[in-house]
Amino acid sequence: MRFNIIVGMCKGGGIGLNGSLPWHFKKDMKFFQKNTTGIGNNKNAVIMGRKTWDSIPVNYKPLKNRDNIILTRVQNKEEYPRPQITDIIRENMYFFPDIDNVFEFCYKRDYHDVWFIGGEEIYRQLIPSLDTKINNIYITMIHKDYVCDAFFLLQIECGGQISHRKLLI
Ligand SMILES: NC(=O)c1ccc[n+]([C@@H]2O[C@H](COP(=O)([O-])OP(=O)(O)OC[C@H]3O[C@@H](n4cnc5c(N)ncnc54)[C@H](OP(=O)(O)O)[C@@H]3O)[C@@H](O)[C@H]2O)c1
Repeated sequence: MRFNIIVGMCKGGGIGLNGSLPWHFKKDMKFFQKNTTGIGNNKNAVIMGRKTWDSIPVNYKPLKNRDNIILTRVQNKEEYPRPQITDIIRENMYFFPDIDNVFEFCYKRDYHDVWFIGGEEIYRQLIPSLDTKINNIYITMIHKDYVCDAFFLLQIECGGQISHRKLLI
C-alpha cells in the first residue's frame, strides 16, 4: 500500500480561496481523477478534511470508485451528517475523528493507493510524517499568481504553465 499526497498549487504555494479552488483546469481535474482512482481490481481511498469535503459539489460526492474518508472532529450526528467513527452513511463514505486511526483503518482495508487530497490543515499535519508515512507527493504547479487564503507548505519550481511533478521522498 502506498500513501500519497496530491495537491495543485500556484506561485507562492496557494491552494485555495474562500473554501474553494481559485482556478479550474480540466487537465488537472483529469490528472487528479486518473491518479486517485484505482485501476482494475485495485481499491483506492481519498482522505480529506471536512472543509474540502464541503467544497465538493453535492452531485460529485462521494468521489466515484474510491473510498472517501473525511476527517472531522464533530461527532454530533444531529449537527451535521458526520457520524461516529467507522459509521458508513453511504457506500464508500467514512468519517473519522483523528488522523492516526485513519492510517490504521487503511492498513486493515488493504487499499492499493491512499491519497491525501487536502486541504491546508490536513497537508500541514502530514509534513512531520513525510519521511515515515508518505511514499509520494504529486504536485501540479500552476505558474500564475492567484489570491489565496489556504497554502501548501512545500514549494517547488518547474517550467510550463501547469506541470505535474511526482516527488519521490
Ligand atoms: N489546490 C488543491 O490541491 C486543494 C486540495 C484540497 C483543498 N484545497 C482547498 O483548501 C481549502 C480548505 O483547506 P482547510 O485547511 O481550510 O480545510 P481542510 O483541511 O479541508 O479541512 C479542515 C477540517 O478538517 C477537520 N480536521 C482537520 N484535522 C483533523 C484531525 N486531525 N482530526 C479530525 N478532523 C480534522 C476539521 O473539521 P471539523 O471542523 O468538521 O472538525 C477541520 O475544520 C479550500 O479552499 C479548498 O478548496 C485545495
